[in-house]
Amino acid sequence: MFAITNSMGLFGMNAFPVTVEAEVSRGHQQFDISGLPDAGIKESRDRVRSAVSSVHIPFPKGRVLMNLAPADVKKSGSSFDIAIFAALMQAMGVLPDRLPESIFVGELGLNGMVHGIHGVLTMTMLAKKNGIRSVFVPAENAAEAAVIDGVDVYGISNVGELLDHLLGHQTLPKAECPAPVPIVSADNILDLSDVRGQKKARAGLEIAAAGGHNILLVGAPGSGKSMLANRLPTILPEMSREEILETTNIYSVAGQLPKDHPLITQRPFRSPHHTVSAAGLVGGGSIPAPGEISLAHNGVLFLDELPEFDRSTLEILRQPLENREVTISRAAGTAVYPCSIMLVAAMNPCPCGYYGSPKNKCICSPKQVAAYMGKISGPLLDRFDLHVDVDPVAYEALASKEKGESSAQIRERIAAARERQKKRFQGTSIYCNAMIPDHLLSEYCEIDEAAAFLLKAVHERYGMSARTYSRIQKVALSCADLHGHDHIERSDIAQATQFRGFESKYLH
Ligand SMILES: Nc1ncnc2c1ncn2[C@@H]1O[C@H](COP(=O)(O)OP(=O)(O)O)[C@@H](O)[C@H]1O
Ligand SMILES: [Mg+2]
Ligand SMILES: [Zn+2]
Repeated sequence: MFAITNSMGLFGMNAFPVTVEAEVSRGHQQFDISGLPDAGIKESRDRVRSAVSSVHIPFPKGRVLMNLAPADVKKSGSSFDIAIFAALMQAMGVLPDRLPESIFVGELGLNGMVHGIHGVLTMTMLAKKNGIRSVFVPAENAAEAAVIDGVDVYGISNVGELLDHLLGHQTLPKAECPAPVPIVSADNILDLSDVRGQKKARAGLEIAAAGGHNILLVGAPGSGKSMLANRLPTILPEMSREEILETTNIYSVAGQLPKDHPLITQRPFRSPHHTVSAAGLVGGGSIPAPGEISLAHNGVLFLDELPEFDRSTLEILRQPLENREVTISRAAGTAVYPCSIMLVAAMNPCPCGYYGSPKNKCICSPKQVAAYMGKISGPLLDRFDLHVDVDPVAYEALASKEKGESSAQIRERIAAARERQKKRFQGTSIYCNAMIPDHLLSEYCEIDEAAAFLLKAVHERYGMSARTYSRIQKVALSCADLHGHDHIERSDIAQATQFRGFESKYLH
Protein backbone atom coordinates (compact mmCIF):
# COMPACT_ATOMS: atom_id res chain seq x y z
CA MET A 1 0.00 0.00 0.00
CA PHE A 2 1.07 3.57 -0.67
CA ALA A 3 0.83 6.49 1.79
CA ILE A 4 1.93 10.08 2.09
CA THR A 5 2.75 12.12 5.21
CA ASN A 6 3.95 15.67 5.62
CA SER A 7 7.02 16.76 7.54
CA MET A 8 9.47 19.63 7.59
CA GLY A 9 13.20 20.10 7.35
CA LEU A 10 15.38 22.93 8.49
CA PHE A 11 18.26 24.80 6.87
CA GLY A 12 19.60 27.84 8.64
CA MET A 13 16.63 29.89 9.76
CA ASN A 14 14.32 28.42 7.16
CA ALA A 15 11.98 25.48 7.37
CA PHE A 16 11.00 23.70 4.18
CA PRO A 17 8.21 21.21 3.55
CA VAL A 18 9.14 17.59 3.04
CA THR A 19 6.76 14.88 1.91
CA VAL A 20 7.35 11.34 3.08
CA GLU A 21 6.05 8.74 0.66
CA ALA A 22 5.85 5.18 1.88
CA GLU A 23 5.17 1.99 0.02
CA VAL A 24 4.84 -1.45 1.53
CA SER A 25 4.70 -4.33 -0.93
CA ARG A 26 5.42 -8.02 -1.18
CA GLY A 27 8.86 -9.25 -1.95
CA HIS A 28 12.17 -9.73 -0.23
CA GLN A 29 12.43 -8.09 3.14
CA GLN A 30 13.93 -4.66 2.57
CA PHE A 31 13.71 -1.20 4.18
CA ASP A 32 15.08 1.70 2.15
CA ILE A 33 14.86 5.45 2.38
CA SER A 34 15.62 7.55 -0.70
CA GLY A 35 15.67 11.28 -1.40
CA LEU A 36 19.23 12.33 -0.60
CA PRO A 37 19.24 11.23 2.99
CA ASP A 38 22.41 11.83 4.91
CA ALA A 39 23.81 9.35 7.38
CA GLY A 40 21.43 10.54 10.10
CA ILE A 41 18.40 9.65 8.07
CA LYS A 42 19.82 6.21 7.30
CA GLU A 43 20.11 5.69 11.04
CA SER A 44 16.50 6.62 11.37
CA ARG A 45 15.67 3.21 9.86
CA ASP A 46 16.89 1.55 13.04
CA ARG A 47 15.00 3.97 15.20
CA VAL A 48 11.80 3.44 13.22
CA ARG A 49 12.16 -0.34 13.55
CA SER A 50 12.60 0.01 17.27
CA ALA A 51 9.57 2.34 17.48
CA VAL A 52 7.42 -0.14 15.59
CA SER A 53 8.34 -2.92 17.94
CA SER A 54 7.66 -0.66 20.94
CA VAL A 55 3.99 -0.57 20.01
CA HIS A 56 3.99 -4.35 19.50
CA ILE A 57 3.28 -4.25 15.78
CA PRO A 58 5.22 -6.73 13.65
CA PHE A 59 7.48 -5.04 11.08
CA PRO A 60 6.34 -5.74 7.49
CA LYS A 61 7.85 -8.89 6.03
CA GLY A 62 8.07 -7.53 2.47
CA ARG A 63 9.55 -4.44 0.85
CA VAL A 64 9.32 -1.09 2.60
CA LEU A 65 10.31 1.87 0.45
CA MET A 66 10.37 5.43 1.66
CA ASN A 67 11.05 8.54 -0.33
CA LEU A 68 11.63 12.00 1.04
CA ALA A 69 10.52 14.62 -1.49
CA PRO A 70 11.64 16.96 -2.97
CA ALA A 71 14.56 14.69 -3.76
CA ASP A 72 16.86 17.49 -4.92
CA VAL A 73 16.93 19.22 -1.54
CA LYS A 74 19.63 18.01 0.78
CA LYS A 75 18.09 16.89 4.01
CA SER A 76 19.84 16.40 7.27
CA GLY A 77 18.99 15.92 10.87
CA SER A 78 16.50 13.61 12.45
CA SER A 79 13.31 15.67 12.32
CA PHE A 80 11.71 13.31 9.79
CA ASP A 81 11.65 10.20 12.02
CA ILE A 82 8.10 10.67 13.24
CA ALA A 83 6.75 11.32 9.75
CA ILE A 84 8.53 8.21 8.48
CA PHE A 85 6.95 6.22 11.28
CA ALA A 86 3.49 7.68 10.60
CA ALA A 87 3.80 7.05 6.85
CA LEU A 88 4.79 3.46 7.53
CA MET A 89 1.79 2.98 9.81
CA GLN A 90 -0.44 4.32 7.05
CA ALA A 91 1.10 2.16 4.39
CA MET A 92 0.66 -0.85 6.65
CA GLY A 93 -3.01 -0.01 7.14
CA VAL A 94 -2.61 0.63 10.87
CA LEU A 95 -3.53 4.28 10.35
CA PRO A 96 -5.97 5.72 7.81
CA ASP A 97 -4.14 6.39 4.54
CA ARG A 98 -4.70 10.15 4.55
CA LEU A 99 -4.08 12.23 7.63
CA PRO A 100 -5.74 15.59 7.09
CA GLU A 101 -3.61 18.72 7.02
CA SER A 102 -1.06 17.63 9.58
CA ILE A 103 2.69 17.68 9.79
CA PHE A 104 4.86 15.43 11.90
CA VAL A 105 8.28 16.42 13.11
CA GLY A 106 10.49 14.85 15.73
CA GLU A 107 13.32 12.45 16.35
CA LEU A 108 12.77 8.91 17.52
CA GLY A 109 14.78 7.46 20.33
CA LEU A 110 14.94 3.83 21.16
CA ASN A 111 11.76 2.20 22.35
CA GLY A 112 9.49 4.67 20.60
CA MET A 113 10.46 7.67 22.69
CA VAL A 114 10.26 11.05 20.93
CA HIS A 115 13.16 13.47 21.34
CA GLY A 116 13.21 17.23 20.81
CA ILE A 117 14.57 18.86 17.66
CA HIS A 118 15.78 22.31 16.62
CA GLY A 119 13.74 24.90 14.75
CA VAL A 120 10.20 23.84 15.70
CA LEU A 121 9.08 27.47 15.91
CA THR A 122 10.00 28.31 12.33
CA MET A 123 8.53 24.99 11.17
CA THR A 124 5.23 25.82 12.85
CA MET A 125 5.21 29.29 11.29
CA LEU A 126 5.60 27.75 7.86
CA ALA A 127 2.94 25.14 8.64
CA LYS A 128 0.48 27.90 9.44
CA LYS A 129 1.38 29.78 6.29
CA ASN A 130 0.81 26.63 4.24
CA GLY A 131 -2.63 26.10 5.71
CA ILE A 132 -1.72 23.12 7.87
CA ARG A 133 -4.14 22.74 10.77
CA SER A 134 -2.32 20.41 13.14
CA VAL A 135 1.33 19.96 13.97
CA PHE A 136 2.66 16.99 15.90
CA VAL A 137 5.92 17.85 17.61
CA PRO A 138 8.10 16.40 20.36
CA ALA A 139 6.57 17.11 23.78
CA GLU A 140 9.61 19.13 24.77
CA ASN A 141 9.07 21.49 21.82
CA ALA A 142 5.30 21.78 22.24
CA ALA A 143 5.27 25.06 24.16
CA GLU A 144 7.58 26.59 21.57
CA ALA A 145 5.28 25.59 18.70
CA ALA A 146 2.22 26.80 20.62
CA VAL A 147 3.63 30.32 20.47
CA ILE A 148 2.09 30.43 16.98
CA ASP A 149 -1.67 30.76 17.22
CA GLY A 150 -4.14 29.42 14.70
CA VAL A 151 -2.50 25.98 14.53
CA ASP A 152 -3.32 23.02 16.77
CA VAL A 153 -0.15 21.78 18.42
CA TYR A 154 0.18 18.32 19.89
CA GLY A 155 3.22 17.36 21.93
CA ILE A 156 4.12 13.70 21.79
CA SER A 157 6.50 11.87 24.10
CA ASN A 158 6.24 8.45 22.48
CA VAL A 159 4.78 6.89 19.36
CA GLY A 160 2.21 4.92 21.38
CA GLU A 161 0.56 8.22 22.32
CA LEU A 162 0.60 9.30 18.71
CA LEU A 163 -1.13 6.12 17.50
CA ASP A 164 -3.75 6.33 20.28
CA HIS A 165 -4.50 9.88 19.28
CA LEU A 166 -4.70 9.30 15.55
CA LEU A 167 -6.87 6.20 16.06
CA GLY A 168 -9.16 8.12 18.36
CA HIS A 169 -8.46 5.94 21.41
CA GLN A 170 -7.12 8.70 23.57
CA THR A 171 -6.97 12.33 22.49
CA LEU A 172 -3.83 14.31 23.20
CA PRO A 173 -4.39 17.72 24.80
CA LYS A 174 -3.68 20.73 22.60
CA ALA A 175 -0.53 22.44 23.75
CA GLU A 176 -0.86 25.94 25.06
CA CYS A 177 1.70 28.69 25.07
CA PRO A 178 2.65 29.31 28.67
CA ALA A 179 2.39 32.89 29.86
CA PRO A 180 5.80 34.54 29.67
CA VAL A 181 7.35 34.32 33.10
CA PRO A 182 10.19 36.69 33.81
CA ILE A 183 13.44 34.81 33.62
CA VAL A 184 15.26 35.01 36.89
CA SER A 185 18.57 36.09 35.56
CA ALA A 186 21.33 38.45 36.39
CA ASP A 187 19.20 41.02 34.58
CA ASN A 188 16.66 41.14 37.33
CA ILE A 189 19.14 41.65 40.11
CA LEU A 190 21.52 44.04 38.43
CA ASP A 191 20.68 47.74 38.40
CA LEU A 192 22.57 50.82 37.36
CA SER A 193 21.90 52.27 40.80
CA ASP A 194 24.68 49.90 41.99
CA VAL A 195 27.22 51.99 40.11
CA ARG A 196 28.52 54.89 42.21
CA GLY A 197 29.74 58.07 40.56
CA GLN A 198 30.79 57.51 36.92
CA LYS A 199 28.65 60.33 35.65
CA LYS A 200 30.22 60.43 32.23
CA ALA A 201 30.29 56.68 31.67
CA ARG A 202 26.67 56.41 32.74
CA ALA A 203 25.73 59.19 30.33
CA GLY A 204 27.62 57.39 27.55
CA LEU A 205 25.78 54.17 28.26
CA GLU A 206 22.46 56.01 28.24
CA ILE A 207 23.13 57.70 24.90
CA ALA A 208 24.29 54.41 23.40
CA ALA A 209 21.13 52.68 24.61
CA ALA A 210 18.95 55.52 23.33
CA GLY A 211 20.28 55.34 19.77
CA GLY A 212 21.39 51.69 19.59
CA HIS A 213 25.03 52.75 19.25
CA ASN A 214 28.06 50.51 19.65
CA ILE A 215 30.13 51.60 22.61
CA LEU A 216 33.71 51.03 23.71
CA LEU A 217 34.64 51.41 27.38
CA VAL A 218 38.30 52.09 28.06
CA GLY A 219 39.72 52.30 31.56
CA ALA A 220 42.01 50.96 34.23
CA PRO A 221 41.35 47.55 35.81
CA GLY A 222 38.68 47.76 38.48
CA SER A 223 37.23 51.02 37.21
CA GLY A 224 33.87 49.35 36.70
CA LYS A 225 33.78 48.68 32.95
CA SER A 226 32.38 45.17 33.24
CA MET A 227 29.99 46.34 35.91
CA LEU A 228 28.61 49.06 33.64
CA ALA A 229 28.33 46.84 30.56
CA ASN A 230 26.54 44.08 32.45
CA ARG A 231 23.86 46.57 33.40
CA LEU A 232 23.16 47.79 29.89
CA PRO A 233 20.23 45.39 29.30
CA THR A 234 18.44 46.87 32.30
CA ILE A 235 17.98 50.19 30.49
CA LEU A 236 17.18 48.96 27.00
CA PRO A 237 13.60 49.34 25.77
CA GLU A 238 11.24 46.39 26.02
CA MET A 239 11.20 44.02 23.09
CA SER A 240 8.38 44.30 20.58
CA ARG A 241 6.37 41.18 19.74
CA GLU A 242 8.18 40.99 16.41
CA GLU A 243 11.59 41.18 18.06
CA ILE A 244 10.57 38.51 20.56
CA LEU A 245 9.63 36.16 17.74
CA GLU A 246 12.82 36.88 15.77
CA THR A 247 15.12 36.27 18.70
CA THR A 248 13.17 33.26 19.90
CA ASN A 249 13.44 31.83 16.41
CA ILE A 250 17.22 31.98 16.53
CA TYR A 251 17.32 30.22 19.88
CA SER A 252 14.90 27.63 18.53
CA VAL A 253 17.09 26.94 15.51
CA ALA A 254 20.16 26.78 17.74
CA GLY A 255 18.36 24.41 20.11
CA GLN A 256 19.00 26.80 22.98
CA LEU A 257 15.50 27.75 24.09
CA PRO A 258 14.95 27.29 27.80
CA LYS A 259 12.56 24.33 28.08
CA ASP A 260 10.11 25.82 30.54
CA HIS A 261 10.16 29.23 28.91
CA PRO A 262 9.77 29.11 25.16
CA LEU A 263 9.78 32.85 24.47
CA ILE A 264 12.83 35.08 24.71
CA THR A 265 11.20 38.21 26.09
CA GLN A 266 14.29 39.89 27.49
CA ARG A 267 16.93 41.33 25.26
CA PRO A 268 19.80 38.86 25.09
CA PHE A 269 23.15 39.75 26.61
CA ARG A 270 25.90 37.53 25.25
CA SER A 271 29.37 37.73 26.64
CA PRO A 272 31.58 35.18 24.90
CA HIS A 273 35.01 34.44 26.35
CA HIS A 274 37.97 35.82 24.43
CA THR A 275 38.97 32.29 23.41
CA VAL A 276 35.82 32.02 21.27
CA SER A 277 36.41 30.75 17.72
CA ALA A 278 35.36 32.59 14.60
CA ALA A 279 32.58 30.05 14.04
CA GLY A 280 31.47 30.42 17.64
CA LEU A 281 31.30 34.16 17.25
CA VAL A 282 29.60 34.62 13.87
CA GLY A 283 28.25 31.12 13.20
CA GLY A 284 29.37 28.15 11.18
CA GLY A 285 29.62 24.39 11.02
CA SER A 286 28.84 21.96 8.22
CA ILE A 287 25.15 22.53 8.88
CA PRO A 288 25.58 26.22 9.69
CA ALA A 289 24.52 27.12 13.21
CA PRO A 290 24.07 30.67 14.51
CA GLY A 291 26.96 32.18 16.47
CA GLU A 292 27.11 34.48 19.48
CA ILE A 293 26.46 37.56 17.34
CA SER A 294 23.13 36.10 16.21
CA LEU A 295 22.25 34.77 19.65
CA ALA A 296 22.61 38.42 20.69
CA HIS A 297 20.10 39.51 18.00
CA ASN A 298 18.00 42.44 19.23
CA GLY A 299 20.23 42.62 22.28
CA VAL A 300 23.82 43.12 23.33
CA LEU A 301 27.07 41.40 22.39
CA PHE A 302 29.66 42.22 25.03
CA LEU A 303 33.33 41.64 24.30
CA ASP A 304 35.13 42.10 27.59
CA GLU A 305 38.93 42.53 27.43
CA LEU A 306 38.74 43.25 23.71
CA PRO A 307 42.50 43.06 22.93
CA GLU A 308 42.58 39.48 24.25
CA PHE A 309 40.38 38.32 21.37
CA ASP A 310 42.07 36.88 18.34
CA ARG A 311 42.48 39.73 15.89
CA SER A 312 41.36 37.80 12.84
CA THR A 313 38.31 36.58 14.75
CA LEU A 314 37.36 40.16 15.51
CA GLU A 315 37.80 41.20 11.91
CA ILE A 316 35.10 38.73 10.88
CA LEU A 317 32.64 40.76 12.94
CA ARG A 318 32.90 43.84 10.75
CA GLN A 319 30.67 42.83 7.87
CA PRO A 320 27.88 41.34 10.02
CA LEU A 321 27.94 44.44 12.23
CA GLU A 322 27.40 46.62 9.19
CA ASN A 323 24.84 44.41 7.44
CA ARG A 324 23.04 43.28 10.57
CA GLU A 325 23.03 39.75 9.22
CA VAL A 326 25.48 36.89 8.77
CA THR A 327 25.65 34.90 5.56
CA ILE A 328 27.17 31.43 5.73
CA SER A 329 27.62 29.55 2.48
CA ARG A 330 27.93 25.81 2.30
CA ALA A 331 27.65 23.23 -0.45
CA ALA A 332 24.17 22.44 0.81
CA GLY A 333 23.04 26.04 0.59
CA THR A 334 23.34 29.46 2.13
CA ALA A 335 22.12 30.25 5.61
CA VAL A 336 21.40 33.83 6.64
CA TYR A 337 21.12 34.69 10.30
CA PRO A 338 20.05 38.11 11.54
CA CYS A 339 22.34 39.90 13.99
CA SER A 340 21.02 43.33 14.74
CA ILE A 341 22.95 44.05 17.88
CA MET A 342 24.56 46.65 20.06
CA LEU A 343 28.23 45.88 20.36
CA VAL A 344 29.75 46.77 23.69
CA ALA A 345 33.43 46.24 24.33
CA ALA A 346 35.70 46.93 27.26
CA MET A 347 39.46 47.20 27.41
CA ASN A 348 42.36 48.50 29.42
CA PRO A 349 44.18 51.39 27.75
CA CYS A 350 47.60 49.67 27.89
CA PRO A 351 49.31 46.46 29.11
CA CYS A 352 49.67 47.71 32.70
CA GLY A 353 46.21 49.22 32.58
CA TYR A 354 46.93 52.70 33.85
CA TYR A 355 47.73 54.76 30.78
CA GLY A 356 45.98 58.10 31.17
CA SER A 357 44.92 57.28 34.71
CA PRO A 358 44.76 60.31 36.98
CA LYS A 359 45.99 58.33 40.02
CA ASN A 360 48.24 55.43 39.12
CA LYS A 361 51.29 55.82 37.01
CA CYS A 362 51.52 53.88 33.76
CA ILE A 363 54.74 51.94 33.45
CA CYS A 364 54.43 51.14 29.76
CA SER A 365 56.56 52.65 27.03
CA PRO A 366 54.77 54.61 24.28
CA LYS A 367 55.66 51.76 21.96
CA GLN A 368 53.94 49.23 24.24
CA VAL A 369 50.83 51.40 24.46
CA ALA A 370 50.69 51.74 20.69
CA ALA A 371 51.20 48.00 20.19
CA TYR A 372 48.41 47.25 22.65
CA MET A 373 45.99 49.54 20.84
CA GLY A 374 47.20 48.15 17.55
CA LYS A 375 45.71 44.77 18.49
CA ILE A 376 42.40 46.27 17.45
CA SER A 377 42.23 47.40 13.88
CA GLY A 378 41.21 50.90 12.95
CA PRO A 379 38.22 49.72 10.93
CA LEU A 380 36.91 47.80 13.94
CA LEU A 381 37.44 50.77 16.25
CA ASP A 382 35.49 52.73 13.71
CA ARG A 383 32.43 50.59 14.40
CA PHE A 384 32.11 52.14 17.85
CA ASP A 385 30.05 55.32 17.82
CA LEU A 386 30.99 56.14 21.40
CA HIS A 387 34.36 55.81 23.10
CA VAL A 388 34.09 56.26 26.84
CA ASP A 389 36.99 56.76 29.20
CA VAL A 390 36.07 55.09 32.44
CA ASP A 391 38.05 56.59 35.32
CA PRO A 392 38.13 54.82 38.66
CA VAL A 393 35.66 56.38 41.08
CA ALA A 394 36.99 58.27 44.04
CA TYR A 395 36.91 56.59 47.42
CA GLU A 396 34.31 59.05 48.73
CA ALA A 397 31.88 58.14 45.96
CA LEU A 398 32.43 54.41 46.51
CA ALA A 399 31.96 54.69 50.25
CA SER A 400 28.93 56.93 50.03
CA LYS A 401 25.54 55.39 50.73
CA GLU A 402 23.97 57.49 48.04
CA LYS A 403 22.79 55.33 45.19
CA GLY A 404 22.93 56.32 41.55
CA GLU A 405 19.83 56.80 39.46
CA SER A 406 17.96 53.53 38.97
CA SER A 407 17.75 51.63 35.70
CA ALA A 408 13.96 52.07 35.67
CA GLN A 409 14.28 55.86 35.65
CA ILE A 410 16.85 55.85 32.87
CA ARG A 411 14.84 53.35 30.90
CA GLU A 412 11.89 55.77 30.80
CA ARG A 413 13.98 58.42 29.10
CA ILE A 414 15.33 55.87 26.67
CA ALA A 415 11.84 54.63 25.84
CA ALA A 416 10.83 58.23 25.08
CA ALA A 417 13.90 58.71 22.88
CA ARG A 418 13.07 55.52 21.00
CA GLU A 419 9.50 56.73 20.47
CA ARG A 420 10.89 59.78 18.69
CA GLN A 421 13.02 57.52 16.51
CA LYS A 422 10.04 55.34 15.70
CA LYS A 423 8.24 58.38 14.32
CA ARG A 424 11.34 59.61 12.54
CA PHE A 425 11.93 56.34 10.73
CA GLN A 426 8.33 55.37 10.09
CA GLY A 427 7.93 53.45 6.86
CA THR A 428 11.64 52.59 6.62
CA SER A 429 13.59 49.59 7.82
CA ILE A 430 15.65 51.81 10.13
CA TYR A 431 14.64 51.71 13.77
CA CYS A 432 17.38 53.52 15.64
CA ASN A 433 19.79 56.39 15.01
CA ALA A 434 22.81 54.09 14.80
CA MET A 435 21.31 52.55 11.65
CA ILE A 436 21.10 55.76 9.62
CA PRO A 437 23.12 55.24 6.44
CA ASP A 438 25.61 58.04 5.84
CA HIS A 439 23.94 59.20 2.64
CA LEU A 440 20.70 59.85 4.53
CA LEU A 441 22.42 61.70 7.36
CA SER A 442 21.44 65.19 6.22
CA GLU A 443 17.85 64.08 5.81
CA TYR A 444 17.52 62.88 9.39
CA CYS A 445 20.00 65.02 11.32
CA GLU A 446 18.42 68.43 11.41
CA ILE A 447 20.89 70.73 13.01
CA ASP A 448 20.56 74.36 14.06
CA GLU A 449 23.00 77.12 13.22
CA ALA A 450 24.86 77.22 16.52
CA ALA A 451 25.25 73.44 16.46
CA ALA A 452 26.52 73.49 12.88
CA PHE A 453 29.03 76.16 13.84
CA LEU A 454 30.37 74.09 16.72
CA LEU A 455 30.51 70.95 14.58
CA LYS A 456 32.55 72.79 11.99
CA ALA A 457 34.90 74.15 14.63
CA VAL A 458 35.48 70.72 16.17
CA HIS A 459 35.95 69.21 12.77
CA GLU A 460 38.63 71.71 11.83
CA ARG A 461 40.40 71.66 15.12
CA TYR A 462 40.75 67.89 15.40
CA GLY A 463 41.06 67.07 11.71
CA MET A 464 38.22 64.61 11.97
CA SER A 465 37.75 61.85 9.42
CA ALA A 466 34.55 61.79 7.40
CA ARG A 467 33.49 58.75 9.38
CA THR A 468 33.98 60.42 12.72
CA TYR A 469 32.09 63.42 11.42
CA SER A 470 29.01 61.33 10.62
CA ARG A 471 29.28 59.31 13.84
CA ILE A 472 29.22 62.49 15.88
CA GLN A 473 26.07 63.63 14.16
CA LYS A 474 24.30 60.34 14.79
CA VAL A 475 25.31 60.34 18.45
CA ALA A 476 24.27 64.00 18.73
CA LEU A 477 20.88 63.04 17.33
CA SER A 478 20.51 60.48 20.13
CA CYS A 479 21.47 63.17 22.65
CA ALA A 480 18.79 65.41 21.14
CA ASP A 481 16.23 62.61 21.39
CA LEU A 482 17.10 62.06 25.05
CA HIS A 483 16.76 65.73 25.83
CA GLY A 484 13.55 66.12 23.87
CA HIS A 485 15.09 68.52 21.35
CA ASP A 486 13.34 68.73 17.98
CA HIS A 487 16.64 69.07 16.18
CA ILE A 488 20.33 68.83 17.08
CA GLU A 489 21.31 71.74 19.29
CA ARG A 490 24.74 73.03 20.19
CA SER A 491 24.75 71.18 23.52
CA ASP A 492 24.03 67.89 21.73
CA ILE A 493 27.10 68.31 19.52
CA ALA A 494 29.14 69.26 22.58
CA GLN A 495 28.00 66.14 24.42
CA ALA A 496 28.59 63.85 21.44
CA THR A 497 32.16 65.09 20.93
CA GLN A 498 33.01 64.10 24.50
CA PHE A 499 32.75 60.49 23.41
CA ARG A 500 35.25 60.63 20.61
CA GLY A 501 38.40 61.32 22.59
CA PHE A 502 39.84 57.93 21.88
CA GLU A 503 41.65 58.56 18.61
CA SER A 504 43.37 61.71 19.72
CA LYS A 505 44.31 60.27 23.08
CA TYR A 506 45.72 56.89 22.18
CA LEU A 507 46.45 56.85 18.50
CA HIS A 508 49.12 59.18 17.31
N1 LIG B 1 31.51 52.94 40.23
C1 LIG B 1 31.47 51.87 41.03
N2 LIG B 1 30.49 51.75 41.96
C2 LIG B 1 30.46 50.66 42.76
N3 LIG B 1 31.34 49.66 42.70
C3 LIG B 1 32.34 49.72 41.81
C4 LIG B 1 32.46 50.83 40.93
N4 LIG B 1 33.54 50.63 40.14
C5 LIG B 1 34.07 49.45 40.51
N5 LIG B 1 33.36 48.89 41.51
C6 LIG B 1 33.66 47.63 42.16
O1 LIG B 1 34.85 47.12 41.60
C7 LIG B 1 34.64 45.83 41.05
C8 LIG B 1 35.44 45.67 39.78
O2 LIG B 1 34.82 46.36 38.75
P1 LIG B 1 34.82 45.79 37.26
O3 LIG B 1 33.58 46.24 36.60
O4 LIG B 1 35.10 44.36 37.24
O5 LIG B 1 36.05 46.61 36.70
P2 LIG B 1 36.75 46.49 35.29
O6 LIG B 1 35.89 45.66 34.41
O7 LIG B 1 36.85 47.89 34.81
O8 LIG B 1 38.08 45.90 35.53
C9 LIG B 1 33.16 45.73 40.84
O9 LIG B 1 32.71 44.41 40.97
C10 LIG B 1 32.60 46.59 41.93
O10 LIG B 1 32.44 45.85 43.12
MG1 LIG C 1 36.36 43.84 33.57
ZN1 LIG D 1 50.48 51.11 31.10
